[in-house]
Amino acid sequence: MSANKPGFFISFEGIDGAGKSTHLERFAAWVKSQYPERELIMTREPGGTTLGEQLRGMLLNTPMHLETEALLMFAARREHLAAVIEPALAKGHIVVSDRFTDASFAYQGGGRGLSLDKLDALEKWVQGRGNDVIEPDLTILFDLPGTVAESRRSQARAPDKFEQMDLDFFERVRQEYLRRAKADPTRFVIMNADQSPDLIWAQLQAIQLSI
Ligand code: TYD
Repeated sequence: MSANKPGFFISFEGIDGAGKSTHLERFAAWVKSQYPERELIMTREPGGTTLGEQLRGMLLNTPMHLETEALLMFAARREHLAAVIEPALAKGHIVVSDRFTDASFAYQGGGRGLSLDKLDALEKWVQGRGNDVIEPDLTILFDLPGTVAESRRSQARAPDKFEQMDLDFFERVRQEYLRRAKADPTRFVIMNADQSPDLIWAQLQAIQLSI
């Protein structure tokens, strides 16, 4: 049984420019329509709390040591779990988060090179509950080549600290996401994000939800 019961926890992931934001709200509304009796909470990382949003501002705009960055990501996550995610799951709500811990492994680990052992330790510390680790029941990974994401990003608003990184960085981020997805196929759905929004939407609606 999932440690999140009676709630259900969904995360959206992908490299910047993969298009996850386009689909997030529509997907959440569709999930809610299937479970009208359940409350659905939409949130994001880094962020999701007042403190977390303050940390987000620093994380996305201020250059800092890699370990400082990882620690602040997990500090924001600790607060997010305590103030938002765990209480909602305990009440049986559905939580949909725009990014969660997979992003720390992909960006701080794969992208910036922090050792996965250190990330594992932070994950256990922040998400460990007895013998369980709080993690999403379902993670939808928007996957596409770094070059395609880069051309989508160049049409978007002013880039933040991460969005300014080069193609090699995003390829490493992508590979770490894929490595984690392959290691945990029951949690992950890998969405080919190099397709039209209509095709992606059709495939999102075909996902079997075991809520
Ligand atoms: P993002 O989710 O893409 O929001 P927006 O669409 O508004 O730009 O931005 C969050 C950025 O933070 C993204 O570049 C990934 C990065 N990030 C990490 O590096 N590590 C993490 O643990 C998380 C949650 C996000």
